[in-house]
Order: sequence, then C-alpha cells, then structure tokens
Amino acid sequence: MNNKVFGNKTIVIGVTGGIACYKVLDLINELKKLGSSIHVIMTENATHFVDITDFEAASGNEVHTNLFHPKVNYKDYIKKNKPIKHISLADIADLFLICPATANVIGKIANGIADDLLTTSVIATIAPVLICPAMNVKMWKNPIVQENVKKLRKLNFHFVEPEYGELACGYKGVGRLANFKKITDRIELLLKQRNDLKNKRILVTAGATFEEIDPVRVITNKSSGKMGTSIAEQAFLRGADTLLLRGSNSTEPHYNIKEEKFTTVSDLYNKIKKNIKNVDIAVHAAAVSDFTINSKKNTKIKSKRKLHLELTPATKIFEKLKKNNKNIFLVGFKAEHNVSENGLIKRAYGLLKSANADLVVANDVGKMGRGFDFDTNEVFIIDKKRNMEHIGLASKSVVADKILDVILKKIK
Ligand SMILES: Cc1cc2nc3c(=O)[nH]c(=O)nc-3n(C[C@H](O)[C@H](O)[C@H](O)COP(=O)(O)O)c2cc1C
Repeated sequence: MNNKVFGNKTIVIGVTGGIACYKVLDLINELKKLGSSIHVIMTENATHFVDITDFEAASGNEVHTNLFHPKVNYKDYIKKNKPIKHISLADIADLFLICPATANVIGKIANGIADDLLTTSVIATIAPVLICPAMNVKMWKNPIVQENVKKLRKLNFHFVEPEYGELACGYKGVGRLANFKKITDRIELLLKQRNDLKNKRILVTAGATFEEIDPVRVITNKSSGKMGTSIAEQAFLRGADTLLLRGSNSTEPHYNIKEEKFTTVSDLYNKIKKNIKNVDIAVHAAAVSDFTINSKKNTKIKSKRKLHLELTPATKIFEKLKKNNKNIFLVGFKAEHNVSENGLIKRAYGLLKSANADLVVANDVGKMGRGFDFDTNEVFIIDKKRNMEHIGLASKSVVADKILDVILKKIK
C-alpha cells in the first residue's frame, strides 16, 4: 500500500444502517495509519448499531449525523454567508466511501434522493464515490437492488461488491462486506486517479456540426455528442482544466464545465483555433461534416420543385490541429460502419498518420450499442506505433475514463 497516495487525502465515509457497521472502525484505523484524514457521516439508522463516540474516537473528528443542527439558526447562517455542512463535507472529500452501504442508501442515491446529510452530501460532491454494499443475500439478489447498482455503475459510481459467506442474519450467500484489502486497493486506485489530470489543460470537441441549406434546413449527422461530453466530464472530475466545444444540439455536460457551442464546420474550427494555443491535450470527438453547402439561401427554399445541392468537401479540421499547436497531445475519433476489426484499425491508423495524431479511438457505429446516440460504446485505441488497446462494451463514462487512462500513460 502506497502511503504517498493516501497521505494528506481526505476520505469522507458514509456509514449506513447495516450490521457490518462496526467493521468500519477497523477500516478507519487502517486508513488513518496510511495517512488519510477521515470524516464520518452516519445515517440515523447506523447509530442503532455503533455509538457515534466510537466513530469519533476512531476518526479523531466530529461525526456528523444531521443535515440540520438543532442549535443552528439557518436564517442567520445564510446572512453570514458561512459554509454549510452538506456542501463543505462534499467539497473537502478526495474520495467519498459508503461503507457499509445498505440497500436503502443505494436505492436513494440511484434515484437522486437527498433526504439526509449523507445522501445530500453524495449528490453535492464531485469526488469519486465508492460504494461497498453489505446485506442479506436475498436483499442483494433483489432485482430492484441489482437495477440500482447497474444504474449507478453506468453513472461511474464505483463498487466493491459483497462477498459470499456466512451472513449475520444466519443465511449463507453473497452479501458480506468485502474484505478490507479489496476495499483499500480500490481506494488507492481511485485516489491515484483523482486529480491525476490536475495542471493539464484539455480541449474536447463533441457533437455534430450543422451546415445550413437555408434558414430552417441543415445538413448534419447522427452524433449525440455523448462520447466527447463523457470525456470532458471525466477529465473535469480528474482535475483537468477542461473546455468543451459542443455542437449546439448535443448532450449537455453534467457538472460546471466551461463550454462554448458551435454550429458549422468553420465555426468549430475558429473556436478551436482561438483556444488550442493554451491546451496540453486535444480530444477531437466532434462529428464534423465532410461537406459544406456552396450557396446557402437566405430565405426558405420552396419545396414543390426539384432541388439540387452542390456540396464542397469541408476543411479536415483534425488534420490541421497539430499545425495550430505542435505541442498538443492529439486524440481523434474514427467512426466506421460495419467493417472488420482489421479494417477499422487500418483506417484509424491512416487517420492518425494523416493528422500526425498521437492516438485515434475507433469504433464501429454499425454494431448495436456502439457509437451514435447509444449510452454505451466499444472502442479500439490505436497509437503511433500501431499498438492497439481494446475497451469492451461499457457505458460511455466508463469508456471515457479508460481513454483518459491511456492518454495519461502516454503523456507521463
Ligand atoms: C438488525 C438489523 C440489521 C440490518 N442489516 C442490514 C444490512 O446489513 N444491510 C442492509 O441493507 N440493511 C440492513 N438493515 C435494514 C436497514 O437498517 C434499513 O433498510 C434502514 O432503512 C437503512 O437506513 P439507512 O440506509 O438510512 O442507514 C438491517 C436492519 C436491522 C433491524
């Protein structure tokens, strides 16, 4: 275990009302030995299992249980502009650990419920959230619990799953809190990732361009912008100074990410040129039109006659990015339709060469669950030496995180 990773880190631990509560006291001792500072939030139900004072003794800090403190006058609070607890605990966390996590708290988080200090803090945090469920086997296997876990995984909440064994309720099955080694290993990994893009400036483009035929009609494509937006979100969560250039109709990013919207190919290119000088990494995931319209009409074209449109090949923006800033680490995307894996990689490599890029992420949008408008993707990442890394089908935020892992390995 690497003390450097744990040292000077703040872990906020949410303890919920499960029989495994008492085990967390030992976990806190271990994390403190490794140098982390620990703040505990207990749900009201957790206080039936372990005394608040035990967690105070273990963590060395006040334990928080209530969203509203009986002695605080919140009207005064607001006037004085003091930090409020649900936000302050959410803000100081390098990692949010929920351990043990009840079926109830998993359900609440999955559904955006924030009715106590713990769930409110989880909703207010941008730190990674690691959930360690522990419960009776029938509860764990319940389809509602499983759906909630699935939903949270897609949203990039992290889990250390419970283990098989004797359960406190007398049953045998999956439901025991995972062993500490598994939990601390995962904490180490997440703390390493946290802020690993700090001091890096990243520009991400996402979504489709529009070329106007007339004031109401456009040529565009099916890109939703979800993949690029997910990359911007994950980069932001990992501490990067992030700017998202987003197609005006594409998916809105979560969090408070800086963004500018683009419409046409030339609008996008101008916005890139304006910003690219100041960035370290450029990820060009936008689906840029291959053609522009020769003569855009200024009034709506009548629809009863035949219409011929003349299209001109558009600027290949991706090929120009390194020319605008030769120092950037450049990542592009190649979407192909129903090609063999070899064909996909060959074309991705061709694109990489033509743009002098550092990585190209390729996917086959002809396959179910990949590419345009899906929430999932499967990609192949090709580097300058034609090495290939495969990221299997997963939610776009998980794929985005893995793409960032590959970028980081290369720029270190
Ligand atoms: C003795 C006892 C043990 C319990 N153990 C668990 C448990 O291990 N896991 C779980 O999900 N719920 C368990 N529960 C049920 C939760 O306490 C209950 O769902 C509660 O609403 C959880 O509240 P919280 O999530 O706000 O802490 C237990 C209940 C009792 C009475």
